[in-house]
Amino acid sequence: MSRSKIAGIGYYVPERVVTNQELSGIMDTSDEWIQERTGIRERRYGKKHEETTSTMGAAAARIACERAGIDPSEIDFIVFATLSPDYYFPGCGVLLQRELGITKSEAGALDIRNQCSGFLYGLSIADQFVKTGMYKNVLVVGSEMHSMGLDFSDRGRNVTVIFGDGAGAVIVQPSDNPEKGILTTKLHSDGTYAEKLAFINPGAHGGYHLTKMGEEFDYGYPPADTYGEIFITEKMFRDGQYYPNMEGQFVFKLAIQKFPEVIHEALKETGLQTSDISLLVPHQANLRISQMVQRSLGLRDDQVWNNIQKYGNTTAASVPIALCEAWEAGKVKEGDLVCLAAFGSGFTWGSALIRW
Ligand code: ACO
Repeated sequence: MSRSKIAGIGYYVPERVVTNQELSGIMDTSDEWIQERTGIRERRYGKKHEETTSTMGAAAARIACERAGIDPSEIDFIVFATLSPDYYFPGCGVLLQRELGITKSEAGALDIRNQCSGFLYGLSIADQFVKTGMYKNVLVVGSEMHSMGLDFSDRGRNVTVIFGDGAGAVIVQPSDNPEKGILTTKLHSDGTYAEKLAFINPGAHGGYHLTKMGEEFDYGYPPADTYGEIFITEKMFRDGQYYPNMEGQFVFKLAIQKFPEVIHEALKETGLQTSDISLLVPHQANLRISQMVQRSLGLRDDQVWNNIQKYGNTTAASVPIALCEAWEAGKVKEGDLVCLAAFGSGFTWGSALIRW
């Protein structure tokens, strides 16, 4: 089997910068609290009605295509990772396809919902398709428009201050050098604690329906006049149950355990050591998480790329945005061993080792 490689990479972040000070003006928080706990100074928010998860993904994809030397019409397959899709359905893959103007192409589109590790899952899928010879140009996109779904009241402050909008994309192609390209990808999940970091409404999980008379209705078929409320009930609105919720400390403890674990697993499989890593690009969950992972792997500051300070946590977009920035800054050179790793809601986590 041949290897696959990242042939082109791009990212897009919206123009609007939202500082911690700006958030402090609308909810009970402070620049000091946010920086101390997360390292974040500012994040970007997309333009409502103009930008969406799929349009930002398309902007990143155009750059990735150009750098890979292909026209979007040459894309064989699209993998789109997001937790903040434009629509409940259909997924963003087909919307991005339309945005790129390649609807008449033969390309298929797949949407994946693996939150912070979505890009790594997508990269692994692309790797399998390319190295088996099925496809030659697979586009992997991670994009998030978090700002449209956050709770800007004090109730949501522990989650809202962390997240930002943006998109990253790569084109995965066959590698002409068997020594170079994606050496391995490792993917894991454990649904035991699914609700510890979740956005459970709207959803078909059989919460309860509320009749127009205000009665709760939790079995059988709801009366016809409640159909419009199947996904979001009045109670959900009242209790703010339609926003992301997170048990931050629980997530933190698991993240600092799983990041190093899955990186060591990839190194072991490829017969490499932490000292072989040229650059670690971790999912930008929280600067404190990245720093603890760095320490546990014994890496120097210049071996880890962090940009959460500028963009916050952009979930599925964070790894490709960070990788692209590092590459643009000349921190990813021919022959370098690049390690990508992510952990997030699900919980799902993963890693990839790439010989550039
Ligand atoms: N501003 C001011 N005060 C706040 C804010 C805020 N934005 N948010 C919470 N607080 C308060 C709390 O109400 C609490 O007050 P209390 O002591 O009076 O009750 C106090 O700060 C401490 O709250 P904790 O939630 O215990 O704060 P913690 O130190 O755990 O930090 C944080 C919260 C930053 C979310 C941290 O737990 C964390 O980073 N967890 C990892 C989760 C993560 O990174 N998630 C990102 C998505 S998942 C992923 O990408 C891996």
